[in-house]
Amino acid sequence: AWPQPLAGRRVVVTAGPTHEAVDPVRYLANASSGKMGVALARAARDLGAAVTLVLGPVALDAPFGVAVEPVTSAAEMAERTLAAAAGADLVVCAAAVADYTPAAPADHKLKKAAEHLDAIPVVETRDILAAVSALPGERVVVGFAAETDDLLGHARAKLASKGCDLVVANDVSRPGIGFGSDENAVTLITADGERAVPTAPKDDIARAVIDAACDLMTSAPNR
Ligand code: PMT
Repeated sequence: AWPQPLAGRRVVVTAGPTHEAVDPVRYLANASSGKMGVALARAARDLGAAVTLVLGPVALDAPFGVAVEPVTSAAEMAERTLAAAAGADLVVCAAAVADYTPAAPADHKLKKAAEHLDAIPVVETRDILAAVSALPGERVVVGFAAETDDLLGHARAKLASKGCDLVVANDVSRPGIGFGSDENAVTLITADGERAVPTAPKDDIARAVIDAACDLMTSAPNR
């Protein structure tokens, strides 16, 4: 028999980058491959959960047995994630969501000099992790903190500012881990303490994150 601590539980994972349209042929994006989020979705599935994966534009195959909601923009990711999160017991936000989106995407291909491609006005996107953390109801919410400096300081600040239960601190300045790679190394931060998870394949990191979330689901009396 296989231990299935998430049997009967609903889990939502966000993964991948978002693409923010500048015009019909250009977009703002980042280097997320979706590997970390897909590994998290598989780990939750393997522990018995019904998993929804809200997945930005990536080149990966959808994991077997996971309901994939493909999205392109941060706005779409926010809409689909919030809709799915309402009925979820656990939400893990591993996506690299654009913080800014062009204020007024053009309906035609912009001309280089004439249409000011050197300055693209942007507006802030909705913070999906903070919005999920503020939803009414009982669920555990996990966020990531992708940092290039003062990793733990910035990650601890995100635990408070986003209002989530667990932050996965991810040093994205180190070669061989983080964006695009097959391995990762993280520190799990909760209100109660911190635990380093050393470099390992993303599947192993994902399992450590989901195990920590399971502990929070059983230990927190209000959940
Ligand atoms: O996809 P891979 O190539 O496997 O790489 C994995 C990863 C490096 C992308 C992943 O491990 C990771 O760190 N994901 C978070 C990336 C990120 O954008 O972090 P952030 O520190 O900018 O955001 C903090 C948290 O807020 C994240 O949980 C993010 O999903 C969430 N967020 C941010 C902005 C926004 N508008 N909505 C959000 O939900």
